[in-house]
Amino acid sequence: MSLHIAAKPGDIAETALLPGDPLRAQFVAETFLENPVCYTRVRGMLGFTGAYGGRRVSVQGTGMGMPSHAIYVHELINLYGVKRLIRIGTCGAYRKDIPLKSLVLAMSASTDSAMNSRRFQGMSYAPTADFGLLLRAHEEAKRLGLPVFAGNVFSSDTFYDDEPEAWRLWAEYGVLAVEMETAILYTLAAKFGVRALSILTVSDNFPLKAAATHEERQTAFQDMMRIALEIAP
Ligand code: HPA
Repeated sequence: MSLHIAAKPGDIAETALLPGDPLRAQFVAETFLENPVCYTRVRGMLGFTGAYGGRRVSVQGTGMGMPSHAIYVHELINLYGVKRLIRIGTCGAYRKDIPLKSLVLAMSASTDSAMNSRRFQGMSYAPTADFGLLLRAHEEAKRLGLPVFAGNVFSSDTFYDDEPEAWRLWAEYGVLAVEMETAILYTLAAKFGVRALSILTVSDNFPLKAAATHEERQTAFQDMMRIALEIAP
């Protein structure tokens, strides 16, 4: 048992899917995994291990934002030996041509996080996806005929920004979408020598001022989960 995860050594698979929402973790486990077992309920941040296509896979909620995400990622890697971490989440698109419900694969993540500015003493680090996972996710999305984009995302510390037009700076520099976790996921994966990828579905679009309905989010989320499970080796 680690501080935030009540699992025993060996309870967690080498591949872990990481939704922010613990109820999404439960949904993935109950919908897609064979014989899922819940290994933690600490703070309601549910985690499950089961099988998909005969391979062991875990799915662990991480909460929202980089400080929470980093706690789970750190413990999964360093205390439970997780080698592949695939975030499944939502994002807000910064371009008109990235429609609601499409997929964004985060090749890299810009951030305003104090976690990384402190870590790198004010210098700028470029958190980057594992290329093998990225390639396979892209191929899988194409095979399923799903609209998919790959590029830089913005991992923000703020959901409700004081300045509603602040996103335009990132859009001007080619950033595809905003979310709140990928920069720290890729930073920690690099530090500890494991593989990571963020697969995101577009839940809202900034320039179009549009948002997906609850039903649309559910369907798009299931496409994303399927891709994550297919590429989980
Ligand atoms: N901001 C941050 N994360 C998000 C957003 C957003 O607008 N939409 C979906 N995830």
